[in-house]
Amino acid sequence: MESQPPTDPKPPMHSETPQPEAGSAPIATIASLAAHEGQSVTLRGWLYNLRESGKLLFPIFRDGTGTIQGIVPKAAVSAEVFESIKTLTHESSVIVTGKVRADKRAPGGFELDVENVEVVQRVPADQPFPISLKDHGVDFLMEHRHLWIRTPRQSAILRIRATIMRAAAEYLDDNGFVRTDPPILTPAACEGTSTLFPVDYFGEEAYLTQSGQLYIESTALALGKVYSFGPTFRAEKSKTRRHLTEFWMVEPELAYCDLDGLMELAENFVSHIAAQVLERHAADLKVIGRDPAKLEAIKAPFPKITYDEAAAMLDDAFAKGLIENKFTYGDDFGSPDETYISAQFDRPVMVHRYPAAVKAFYMEPDAADPTKALCVDVLAPEGYGEIIGGSQRVASYDLLKQRILDHGLPLEAFQWYLDLRKYGSVPHAGFGMGIERVVAWLCGLDHVRETIPFARTLNRIYP
Ligand code: 4AD
Ligand code: MG
Repeated sequence: MESQPPTDPKPPMHSETPQPEAGSAPIATIASLAAHEGQSVTLRGWLYNLRESGKLLFPIFRDGTGTIQGIVPKAAVSAEVFESIKTLTHESSVIVTGKVRADKRAPGGFELDVENVEVVQRVPADQPFPISLKDHGVDFLMEHRHLWIRTPRQSAILRIRATIMRAAAEYLDDNGFVRTDPPILTPAACEGTSTLFPVDYFGEEAYLTQSGQLYIESTALALGKVYSFGPTFRAEKSKTRRHLTEFWMVEPELAYCDLDGLMELAENFVSHIAAQVLERHAADLKVIGRDPAKLEAIKAPFPKITYDEAAAMLDDAFAKGLIENKFTYGDDFGSPDETYISAQFDRPVMVHRYPAAVKAFYMEPDAADPTKALCVDVLAPEGYGEIIGGSQRVASYDLLKQRILDHGLPLEAFQWYLDLRKYGSVPHAGFGMGIERVVAWLCGLDHVRETIPFARTLNRIYP
């Protein structure tokens, strides 16, 4: 065999961006400055803010991992560098060298004694960065979402989101689940026909998936424990703080699992995710003003109550004048109901066994009372409401077929799904957790629009 000619090692990706002069300070990130105390480092980022006080400049730099305040005494740098920093505009891209100094008062614990600033691109002074430090309305910010995400609070939320997704996948990967990706283009509804996004599929009507569930039921019967993790779509006409039309769902599905097993998985799963956010994001939680004590409380086991018990709590609250609307037994809980119930606990509460009539066609009835479904909704505390919905699945072929017909669903489209009850049907169960709902809750946000880089809602598909 001929040996391959030696090739030059590929330079690492980051070296394609402008490099500091040879022999100068090593490249560092703001988040890693603790390892460089007392040393000169090179940071590559942007100017976030600039204050001036006599012969001192206080530029604040950001680099995607955090922000740091620099100090530039006029005497410490050349007149040229001083002038260049003094006239620097917000969001100009810069390569900064400076010495890392610990400072207890600094938000990140360090300040930078600036030695040099190389401007990569100067934002023109007559066309300033549109997002200033003053308050902007939400519509303006959403219209400029591509720039809004540069601000410290939004960046912190996106970093926490990434950890939530990573921790979710990590928990399942480490516990024997196989990730199996369901299709996004589907021929049928999973979660009701009223929120489908139709797509023209070469002349046939198809839909964007509402949930991977039906498909991962089949992969669970193939592989035992599986999950899917991807975007899901609901043509939600509702304008609420909790609804997006495109959101990310993680869905574990297990063969040979009942409702109790599923609830145990859900509480351990959520606890792991909260613990990871606490462990990795102390600084980000501070930036967004989230009290870590709220996250410390999120530890399994979670309280578990039946639908009937939750309904009784609502009746009681209404009698005491604590809620405005009387709850009608048999209905699904509305957002205000969920808010009240979940606000009674300091950790998520698991509400199980809802009336089968208000839940999806695929839920297994409770043998002890077939009017109830073997399902669970996990309601997050502080009024955040539902973060997880799941159930044991109908295992009987005949019952499932009847349910499909009762719900007016097209039998042909579900023939493959019925096959799963024909060939080695077993008790199986799974749930779906909405990532954006969890980000909103763990970060303590008012609205899911800030939990995803580019929110898709009833009124917004730009940028
Ligand atoms: O309760 P849902 O509709 O359940 C299902 O889709 C099941 N098929 C999941 C399963 O069992 N595998 O949705 C699951 C979760 C909700 O608890 C919520 O967190 C989130 O998905 N969710 C939404 N998040 C944002 N915007 C929306 N419009 C959402 N609809 C559901
Ligand atoms: Mg639900």
